[in-house]
Amino acid sequence: MSTPAEHYERHLGPIYVWMAGGAEAALQAGSTEIEALNLPVARGAIVLDLGAGFGMHSIPLARKGARVTAIDSSIELLRTLTELRGNLPVQAVNDDLQAFQSHITEAPSAILCMGDTIAHLPDLGAVENLIERASVELPPGGMFVVSFRDYSVPLIGEQRFIPVRNDATRILTCFLEYEPETVLVHDILHERTSDGWQTRGSCYRKLRLSPEHLITSLQSNGFNVRREPGLRGMVRLVARAGRDLVRAVA
Ligand SMILES: C[S@@+](CC[C@H](N)C(=O)[O-])C[C@H]1O[C@@H](n2cnc3c(N)ncnc32)[C@H](O)[C@@H]1O
Repeated sequence: MSTPAEHYERHLGPIYVWMAGGAEAALQAGSTEIEALNLPVARGAIVLDLGAGFGMHSIPLARKGARVTAIDSSIELLRTLTELRGNLPVQAVNDDLQAFQSHITEAPSAILCMGDTIAHLPDLGAVENLIERASVELPPGGMFVVSFRDYSVPLIGEQRFIPVRNDATRILTCFLEYEPETVLVHDILHERTSDGWQTRGSCYRKLRLSPEHLITSLQSNGFNVRREPGLRGMVRLVARAGRDLVRAVA
């Protein structure tokens, strides 16, 4: 069993961009998602991207004029982000996202935690603490956006084998093993080498977060929450700081 940081360092980091379909396609998908979100982020506004990876959302946001602080525990993914960002104002920060407040120098207009990053936190208490601290840092009208996989209803039998990506040289498959509060994610990589196919696996734990629980937690911290479909079957919660009407789109 690996921690998420070990899993990214030893297993996923080196193939993450490939897994996401290549940098160009992934940045295009991130850009489409940022456009769909239509965040009220003015030119020069500060945005925090928690668990930014290689910048799938940070880079499109910076192209729209935001100044982005991209926090991630993976040095390898931040190195890729630094290559891809060019001269865009994206600051790569290698830290635990739970320490995000120590990287705030100006009030952020938005805080993002996308692509199932939040499920990597150690427990539900850490998720609720993150939401509470985001609500403290965002001014009224500031946005907190989180997207994650709904593992609350377990897949059964062969549904738990998930083909992630394959091509002539790599096959990546994920197997899910459910526990009461968490899911063990086994990533199995087959890679063609000069000696033939080689297989390596790695396993880490993710939280089984229920969208309803997160919505309640966001609302109780004063967010106005919109629920909508995210990328690749994820749930996306778009939360605006400041108490007013709650609406559910999907
Ligand atoms: C599934 S990827 C999502 C990346 C990106 N947000 C996206 O949508 O493509 C999860 C990312 O969160 C990072 N991560 C996981 N736990 C973290 C933590 N506690 N602090 C900082 N980064 C973390 C991983 O290194 C990885 O880059």
